[in-house]
Amino acid sequence: MNISPDRVLLLGANGQVGRELQRALAGRDVVFATRAGTLADGTPCLAGDLADAASLARALDEAGAETIVNAAAYTAVDRAEDEPELADRINHRAVGEIGAWAAAHDAHVVHYSTDYVFDGHGIPGADGSPRAYREDDATAPLGTYGRSKLAGEQALAASGASHRIFRTAWVYASHGHNFLRTMLRLAAEREELRVVADQIGAPTPARWIADVTAGVTTSSPASSGLGGVFNLVAAGRCSWYDFASAIVEGAAARELIARAPRVVPIATADFPTRARRPAWSVLDGARLEAAFGLQLPDWRAGLDQVLDELAAAGPA
Ligand SMILES: NC(=O)c1ccc[n+]([C@@H]2O[C@H](COP(=O)([O-])OP(=O)(O)OC[C@H]3O[C@@H](n4cnc5c(N)ncnc54)[C@H](OP(=O)(O)O)[C@@H]3O)[C@@H](O)[C@H]2O)c1
Repeated sequence: MNISPDRVLLLGANGQVGRELQRALAGRDVVFATRAGTLADGTPCLAGDLADAASLARALDEAGAETIVNAAAYTAVDRAEDEPELADRINHRAVGEIGAWAAAHDAHVVHYSTDYVFDGHGIPGADGSPRAYREDDATAPLGTYGRSKLAGEQALAASGASHRIFRTAWVYASHGHNFLRTMLRLAAEREELRVVADQIGAPTPARWIADVTAGVTTSSPASSGLGGVFNLVAAGRCSWYDFASAIVEGAAARELIARAPRVVPIATADFPTRARRPAWSVLDGARLEAAFGLQLPDWRAGLDQVLDELAAAGPA
């Protein structure tokens, strides 16, 4: 089977990153695939269900793309504890199958992974406080989702396919299921938002992940020597409490919410969830910066951009 050079297959085109990739890859030879075979606006596209090996194989064969971007994932972190087989099928075994197809057809794979591959205890830096995780630091996922994502990374590497894995964290956008949209909804309903202040990370806009992906997919991971795992996160760091406070302040300033509720810091222990989350989720972006000569801005700049997008779109 011949594959089309320059063609991109985008799996998971309806997710946060998938939708931003639709925008960022516009004008290129892109074939979209979603679980059900329709884009969010109802336009038909390829069906590529990662839970079903035959459906995935059909999508890969039908697209015949030189680059496969896999933005599909099982991302329900808490539910994964009750559906470990499904999470493993989508986040691990399907990724191995994508890698095997790519290796057999001399194609490349771009895949996304997560800070949840780490336990979040942090590694002490020179001054004794935790330093940002590097790509080659020891992994130790705390839960089913993180384990399935780590197994997916490993299966892709073992497939022998030319590939890049972008590890990202705290992803949000003006659309989809994310912390920012949850905070805006709750801010309209409540006087007070109680938000965890002892988990630290860098909120990263899906838009930035897509823009970086689109910028680097023209170079082959294998022949450029720039393959493997790269951390891809906004610069800076904050707690969920800091993020929520900035969301409320920025949303009130743009009149996205009628009034700003009080934001109250709480401890993780006060907000029990089915799956444990890493307390320290800060990823070091130095490898990405050095490899591709780009620097992601501070998380606050990303928040301003996404809130501006929401304000420009007007009332939902
Ligand atoms: N969200 C975060 O905070 C975060 C943090 C770190 C890393 N990541 C990683 O970043 C990548 C993109 O995440 P995201 O935030 O864009 O996730 P998302 O918004 O939850 O989107 C995931 C997409 O995958 C699709 N999907 C789920 N099961 C599927 C299946 N069986 N077959 C085909 N598609 C399926 C979903 O389709 P439906 O719309 O049909 O459900 C959805 O469109 C993922 O690899 C994720 O693990 C995310």
